[in-house]
Amino acid sequence: MYDTRNDLSVKVRTNVVETLNARLADAIDLRLQVKHAHWNVKGPHFISLHELFDKIAENLEEHVDAIAERITALGGTAYGTLAKVARATSVAAYPAEITDGSAHVAALAAALADFGKKVRVAIGETDELGDADTADLFTQASRDVDKYLWFLEAHLHANR
Ligand SMILES: [Fe+2]
Repeated sequence: MYDTRNDLSVKVRTNVVETLNARLADAIDLRLQVKHAHWNVKGPHFISLHELFDKIAENLEEHVDAIAERITALGGTAYGTLAKVARATSVAAYPAEITDGSAHVAALAAALADFGKKVRVAIGETDELGDADTADLFTQASRDVDKYLWFLEAHLHANR
């Protein structure tokens, strides 16, 4: 950890940074999975799904940046290289060969829901550690994940 004039203790900052780096790896992995879907989706709903997936990826990119910069603001190192992310991610591997729109929507909904659950846990963890700002950062991310999970699940209803 780097020295900083930030009044949060080294202990708090160290623990918060650990949680932030765990979710950073997940967010980067998830963003790439969404991009993979954006590039490879096929079928009658191609253009709407292609565009929706890109919107989700762009939103995740904003949170990736916010999480990473919160880490450095707290005196930590943001581990954003693919090699580090590949080791640290807790997101399940994406079914890379699927093409059908509803298969991608279902796979992304599962991945987003898993990420959303972990981000919600991170809100409580960082709040309890005494870092309301990081809890707020995760709260913003959580709200967006819930919104885009809703967007994805709305498509699954249409297919029933
Ligand atoms: Fe694109």
